[in-house]
Amino acid sequence: MLTSNPFAELSASISPGVMQAYVVLMIVLVIVGTVLDMMHKKSAQYFFENAERARKDAKRTLGAAEKAGMAITTVTNEVLTSSEFKNTRRRISHLFTMYGFVLFVVSTAVLIFGYATEPAAGVWPLLWHLGALSLCVGGYWFWFAIRVDVAAEGVKWYNFNGRGDLFIVGLLSTATFALLWSLTMGAGALNTLLFVLFIASSTVLFGTVFWSKFAHMFFKPAAAYQKKCIMADGSRENLPNDYDLTDPAVQAKFPDIPEYLGKNPPNMGLGISREAPRHY
Ligand code: HEM
Repeated sequence: MLTSNPFAELSASISPGVMQAYVVLMIVLVIVGTVLDMMHKKSAQYFFENAERARKDAKRTLGAAEKAGMAITTVTNEVLTSSEFKNTRRRISHLFTMYGFVLFVVSTAVLIFGYATEPAAGVWPLLWHLGALSLCVGGYWFWFAIRVDVAAEGVKWYNFNGRGDLFIVGLLSTATFALLWSLTMGAGALNTLLFVLFIASSTVLFGTVFWSKFAHMFFKPAAAYQKKCIMADGSRENLPNDYDLTDPAVQAKFPDIPEYLGKNPPNMGLGISREAPRHY
């Protein structure tokens, strides 16, 4: 069952051309939603103005090779391994969700454009099912175990917080109904109902990019790269360095340090990073 292409069965009632047109429409909706989101929030304008300000405040100029190196580490760390997550459970759940989604989307496109009428379509049907399953593992874990934790959002599992949850709910309903539709193939009206729910969910997921968190998958890598640049060129968004308080040059710059803490200020410890925030 997991190795059978569900779209081949569907092609008996819906032509491959219609399926392909639907996929193209979803791609267009994502592009339009992302562009509208950028225009509305002025995020691109902010990004470039911020980059320009950083360039002016830079203590040194970054070379092309250094920038390329940072772009590569952004891909290998922040994008491919979700390294921005400090919480391990949240990071692993994000990895399941992200890789599941990518696998599901890519294999859907391959099946619909390459094998729409072939029940056995190589490894692709298996990848399609595994992608949806992985998305469900990461997503339901997030919804039922992570998001509900008071050390995270502390939101009840049955509470839907509007736009903030549109993305995760769209992801989960799409993958869940896709799997159920495939698994009930041949079950008549039930199968048709699950197919309608699958398409309704995916239309909500791809059609609400403007309102949901969908576009973070495009913006976050750019923000992560920019963050690396401002640390490397010394502009640091105008934030102070991590000073060594015993350094005479630092004490000359901030005379109140020796005045209040003496010439050899003690190490004040990790401060807010001392322990995970669990005191809710
Ligand atoms: C490609 C598909 C992706 C999917 C399906 C996806 C899915 C999600 C979901 C469901 C959440 C909410 C869960 C949580 O906060 O733990 C989330 C949050 C987050 N994602 Fe992704 N993500 C994707 C790509 C990316 C990429 C490429 C990056 C970074 C380069 C990224 C960085 C983040 C970060 C930092 C958060 C948490 C902070 C926030 O809520 O804004 N994601 N993602």
